[in-house]
Amino acid sequence: MAPMSRHAEAFERWIRTSFVQMNTELENLYFGKENRAQVIGCGDPIKARLRDEGHTHVVALLAEGNTGEGFDSAYGVLGSVGLYMGALRRHELTNPSREERSPFPEASSLALHLGASLGMAPRFSTGHLAMHNKARAGVRKSFTSLPDEFLFIDENTRGILSLQRAADALTSIVHIGVSSPVADVMFDAAKQALRDVIRFNDRLMNQLDVERFFYSVRPYYKPYRVGRQEYRGANAGDFSGINEVDLLLGLCRANDPYYAQLLVDKMLFMSPVDQARLRDCMTRTSLLDELLVLLDEHGEADWFQNNAGAFLEVCDLFGQGAKQHHDGLVRRFIEGPAAKLNEDGLEGITASGPPLPVLLRSLEVLRDLRLAADRRDIATRHADLGKLRRAVRGNRSK
Ligand code: HEM
Repeated sequence: MAPMSRHAEAFERWIRTSFVQMNTELENLYFGKENRAQVIGCGDPIKARLRDEGHTHVVALLAEGNTGEGFDSAYGVLGSVGLYMGALRRHELTNPSREERSPFPEASSLALHLGASLGMAPRFSTGHLAMHNKARAGVRKSFTSLPDEFLFIDENTRGILSLQRAADALTSIVHIGVSSPVADVMFDAAKQALRDVIRFNDRLMNQLDVERFFYSVRPYYKPYRVGRQEYRGANAGDFSGINEVDLLLGLCRANDPYYAQLLVDKMLFMSPVDQARLRDCMTRTSLLDELLVLLDEHGEADWFQNNAGAFLEVCDLFGQGAKQHHDGLVRRFIEGPAAKLNEDGLEGITASGPPLPVLLRSLEVLRDLRLAADRRDIATRHADLGKLRRAVRGNRSK
């Protein structure tokens, strides 16, 4: 791996130290106020220091014109400038609804240069904080050192890594074929990975503090402008694994207009490797479609019974995780506290930008696709999964 430039290393060190200290101090100031959503006019000297120190690093990197040191270095600097811009947004030193372009032209230029060279959106995305966030002596990049932020990032990362494992396992079934007697080990691996996702979601549900998450962590994930354009915030979906599972199982389809739009919208928030994986997946026949084709002729064969049974268990676990995300995490940590805010406080509450009810409806569609729910208004696989269930012996008496 190519070494980082001196300027890149200095910026990285600043992001991992002073930047974290200043954000943490500011969060503790806001959180101690009667109105925790009141950010403007609070902690101004700290905000100015954060803005100016970051600016010095950005200007040095911009002058160096440095994106030529390999993927890891460019990706790391994009993450750092993204965290810096995300913090400026969080502390209301910029707000896309008040401005037509970012008031930080140097940071914007650096981010645009890096984003274009990498083939990614010019802002930080979840990969920068999760699966590509390299720990140094046990410490990873973060906005603050609040325990709730670490809990949130770490459990998100564990969930993402587990969904990637599930995607890897299902991908290998594509290669050996869904009728293969050895598919059993890969279905088992997928089930184990999805049980882990459920476990990590549970831990967030039970351990994350609702108020701290809502007031001190989530605000860093708001949309902000880079140059003229506004980019949606990061969310834990900024990786291909979950969509690979959607498509390989067959619960979501790439030719469904709602789902295809979602894939297009998230493409640039993923690393180039994930973009390629997702594109490849879009050309495959799903395991569900393969099993349905085999059903009439081979439904009684042992391999069909075993593999269709295991496939259904994978779908059930995946659906359970999707339900837990929406009915548990989103409800408890977003919908609940948002219900207590007035309109001003609600502005910019979600990472993607649309008003909360619109976002919630859209997330509900995803949940129901993954649950293969009995809905007539969207194209779920309810009927097809039902057909498969009735064909599997263990289910016939139910
Ligand atoms: C406190 C915990 C969590 C909350 C409150 C939460 C909330 C949300 C919200 C509101 C969105 C919509 C994006 C937006 O804000 O505009 C979203 C998207 C997403 N989240 Fe979470 N999330 C949490 C944890 C997780 C975890 C642990 C995972 C597992 C990897 C996860 C996976 C996803 C995915 C994949 C998406 C993209 C939409 C989708 O494909 O379902 N989230 N989340």
